[in-house]
Amino acid sequence: MAEKLRIYGGTHLHGVVTVNGGKNAALAIIPAVLLAGEPCTIENLPNVNDINALEDILQSLGAIVSRTENSMTIDPRRINSTVVSEAFASRLRASYYFVGAMLGVYGKADVALPGGCAIGARPIDQHIKGFEALGATVSTDDGHIVADANGGLVGSEIYLDMPSVGATINIMLAAASAKGNTTIVNVAKEPHIVDLANFLNAMGGWVKGAGTDTIRIRGGRPMHGCTYAIIPDQIETGTLMIAAAATRGDVLIRGALPTHMEALTAKLLEMGAKVDEGIGEDSIRVRAEGVLRHVNIKTQPYPGFPTDLQQPMSALLSTAKGTSVINETLFENRHRHLDELRKMGGISSVEDNRRIATIEGVPALHGASVTATDLRAGAALVIAGLMADGITDIYDIKYIDRGYEHLEQKLCALGAIIERMSADE
Ligand code: UD1
Repeated sequence: MAEKLRIYGGTHLHGVVTVNGGKNAALAIIPAVLLAGEPCTIENLPNVNDINALEDILQSLGAIVSRTENSMTIDPRRINSTVVSEAFASRLRASYYFVGAMLGVYGKADVALPGGCAIGARPIDQHIKGFEALGATVSTDDGHIVADANGGLVGSEIYLDMPSVGATINIMLAAASAKGNTTIVNVAKEPHIVDLANFLNAMGGWVKGAGTDTIRIRGGRPMHGCTYAIIPDQIETGTLMIAAAATRGDVLIRGALPTHMEALTAKLLEMGAKVDEGIGEDSIRVRAEGVLRHVNIKTQPYPGFPTDLQQPMSALLSTAKGTSVINETLFENRHRHLDELRKMGGISSVEDNRRIATIEGVPALHGASVTATDLRAGAALVIAGLMADGITDIYDIKYIDRGYEHLEQKLCALGAIIERMSADE
């Protein structure tokens, strides 16, 4: 049954909230369990639909999976298939990480092209280039990524044309099982790349340099099962920080890593919000009152401003004093939610082949019926609904449920008034 969120806007968020484990880290680490060849337990997992989709893929391959709300034990020893059908792969982007993992461990993979948010063309040429450099044959005919290791992957030197998160992860997964040494240059430096490297090392792998431009891997080492806890979710942390500022609230976010949030923190400070990092503990306090100033944002790979936070940020900027410009450099289709914000009184225009959005701050937004077009667009609309006068109904919240655990419950505990109800009501 389709559901919607009904938000009664105008409340100020106050209190303490705890961040869940990183979705994008979990999406890389769960397929990596195949490399252990033994059971692994992953803790601090977010309880979101993307993780459910990975669980279904693992079970379809023959893995034994047991689950609590925030942990998953995966036994890969009975895996008897290397095929992920379209019905499973289309549910999320990260399904393609099974290509890297299975290619290394089982020597072949046949995974339907991935789904995920429609935020741009999202080519996979860098993933394929990496697999081929390791000695694999890869085709993408008939909507499937079909890869064959031709008797075994061999370590190599790989230069990425851009620091792609997905290609970095996929090549790390394959190279960890390849014979010999691999160097990957111009890699992504996002926190979940470091988390994956730590997990591979916890299983007995040898991965150095994660978090810098170059990752070195000694492949083919014997791996073993382990228990591993995922890092806090950078994007959920950022979403809550923005929501606190947007509602002119005062929120202490616990379980967060302030060093992952520096680009956002800098922008919130520039706007006039107050951001305090917890001393001696992993927490961030965000406070704001009165009118906030406009800022310009350019999305960049980490440690630049995350593309995943520009959409939530655009909601906050809708009522900032002055004109803000958001330059989206990574994905060409990531301003569609501005059409929805316009229904709430937001003023914006998008130019330069859909990359550059100009947002004119208005004194206030008003409630309206709006539709989420992707995950972070959904988060932007929730923030807009919290800020708006009156009632906002958000449809297609399946996108929000893909990546945020109990978002409305967390916000309600901070004083928001949000109901989840049938979309027909
Ligand atoms: C990941 C995140 C997503 C985030 C994005 C950027 C996951 C599951 N998703 O997506 O939330 O918005 O990083 O931080 O972790 N590109 C190519 N060829 C390739 C691969 C990428 O041209 O082979 C381009 C893309 O079109 C894009 C840019 O590189 O312009 C960055 O994409 P990438 O970092 O790969 O993003 P994802 O891994 O898809």
